[in-house]
Amino acid sequence: MAGIYIHIPFCKQACHYCNFHFSTLHNNMPEMLDAIIKEASLQKNYLQEAIETIYLGGGTPSIYKPSDIEKIITHLHQTFTVIPNVEITLEANPDDITEEKLQQWKNIGINRLSIGIQSFVEEDLKWMNRAHNSFQALHCLQIATKYFNNITVDLIYGTPYLTNEQWKKNIDTVVQFNIPHISCYALTVEPKTVLHTLIQKNKLPNIDIEKQAQHFEILTNTLAKAHYEHYEISNFATSGFRSKHNSSYWQGKHYLGFGPSAHSFNGISRQWNISNNALYFKSIAQNKVLYEIEILTTKQQLNEYIMTALRTIEGISLQHVKENFSEEEKEKLLSRSKKLITQQLLSIENNFLKLTPQAKFLADGIAADLFVD
Ligand SMILES: C[S@@+](CC[C@H](N)C(=O)[O-])C[C@H]1O[C@@H](n2cnc3c(N)ncnc32)[C@H](O)[C@@H]1O
Ligand code: SF4
Repeated sequence: MAGIYIHIPFCKQACHYCNFHFSTLHNNMPEMLDAIIKEASLQKNYLQEAIETIYLGGGTPSIYKPSDIEKIITHLHQTFTVIPNVEITLEANPDDITEEKLQQWKNIGINRLSIGIQSFVEEDLKWMNRAHNSFQALHCLQIATKYFNNITVDLIYGTPYLTNEQWKKNIDTVVQFNIPHISCYALTVEPKTVLHTLIQKNKLPNIDIEKQAQHFEILTNTLAKAHYEHYEISNFATSGFRSKHNSSYWQGKHYLGFGPSAHSFNGISRQWNISNNALYFKSIAQNKVLYEIEILTTKQQLNEYIMTALRTIEGISLQHVKENFSEEEKEKLLSRSKKLITQQLLSIENNFLKLTPQAKFLADGIAADLFVD
């Protein structure tokens, strides 16, 4: 089974922290819709497996009319073998959500909504330069829960002014709406963002790692009490509501991405489309997809597995390492993990190498210590 990712590269306005690929000029939105649909036809032989998940992300997919999104979904059904109970997620921004659209999204087959709330605190939303305010953050959940039961909400923590109390309240608010899935990200300062410039000019305080660690602890404690499973470092779900699409990335399943900057993976190579709308149009018009490609070496494949598996609740399967790499690689990995086990950052349970609860906030650094050189 495999997944499809569609990148919609348009947003109403640029959030100050974001360096994903998007444009705030919307004049060529119809052209982009046609190009993405054409790219799906051009790439139809990339995957041999049936499609079990479709994810419309961005950018801001909810910026398109539901009837436009329907054109993409219909074309995917015509072009690929899509399983009957396919998970179809749409990323929607709070300011785009209305009862009429919710009904239309349901009608066209969207069965999972990913809402980018980020924060319910007005001051937070202001410095982020979000297109929505705190009233819209609440209101969209009030109406979305009438139409969808499979909803995920994105929140960002460790932001310049957010206090521990405000952060706890942000999490509690989502829990009170019985939202079954929550993704929470520590704010990162990406190069070439307004946030980066504001921090450099001392107009915003820099990231405080200590505060981010406190927020992470508040997060894990609050959601554990509310019976969410912490199934990946940034992801929490109630029973039966893990993201099938994201889980397949972490399980090394194959996926195909359409649209500028979208990534694809077929087990042997990883490729990513050009992050430039004009060049993307030009290549698609010539029946070509412009991408860069990287053939993964065995070492890279093992390091990717270590990186992604360590972030999950299950951890690194030593059996998987033995079967897919070698007994020798498994032994070497165990020897690299010895010191981390003594420091109580890692543990071994049922032949899985896992992070201990106190090590979860340090996952990326620990993964780097486990990498093959
Ligand atoms: C690329 S965005 C797309 C979602 C949608 N456009 C939105 O903004 O709600 C996916 C998620 O990544 C997170 N994100 C993006 N940039 C981030 C950053 N610099 N630090 C932390 N989280 C970030 C946000 O939570 C966001 O909802
Ligand atoms: S966070 Fe979302 S809405 Fe904001 S610029 Fe990035 S992709 Fe667009």
